[in-house]
Amino acid sequence: MNRKEMLEAVHTEVRACTLCPLHAARTRAVPGAGPADAEIMFIGEAPGFHEDQQGLPFVGAAGRYLNELLTKVGIDRQHVFITNVIKCRPPSNREPKAEEVETCKPYLDRQIEIISPRVIVTLGRHSMARAFPEEKISTVHGQPREVNGQIYFPMYHPAAALHQPSLRSVLEADFARLRDLLDGNLEPETYTPPPDAEQLSLF
Ligand code: URA
Repeated sequence: MNRKEMLEAVHTEVRACTLCPLHAARTRAVPGAGPADAEIMFIGEAPGFHEDQQGLPFVGAAGRYLNELLTKVGIDRQHVFITNVIKCRPPSNREPKAEEVETCKPYLDRQIEIISPRVIVTLGRHSMARAFPEEKISTVHGQPREVNGQIYFPMYHPAAALHQPSLRSVLEADFARLRDLLDGNLEPETYTPPPDAEQLSLF
């Protein structure tokens, strides 16, 4: 199997997944979208209403804002892979529960392993917590960190900026820093994971 086929096999499993109760209320699971050899991967939180309807990530209001942010810094959405920490919509868009994140984790782990993106942009605190569970997003957003050859770039979630307009300029500045990183004009800091990170299979 090539990378594209391996990724499609994961997505086929996700679409049929019944491992947690979220499957019962979903219209469609949302595995993710984008090329199997993407250099950049964006990881959001969970599908919302429109994503659940269409089976595609970031197609609602937050997705439109994400498109704007990408366009502003010259990143083509067709060239990036976009997914979420959990693949099914939580009822009333509530936050993902720890056990849902845990149950869904192997799918995200496999997507990262197959795609092997150079840069992983985490959108929001649930996504950031996967790599940096002890950090606060208000402290680390916009700061790329290299871990085992991969660069993690934490950012606020675009939906947060829709509710809190003061975050718009923060997100836009962080996207400009992402551009700098891609152009080689920003160096990531080298991050040494805490000793228990491997045990927790964070990286
Ligand atoms: N918010 C997310 O975190 N993911 C989506 O796919 C849409 C909105």
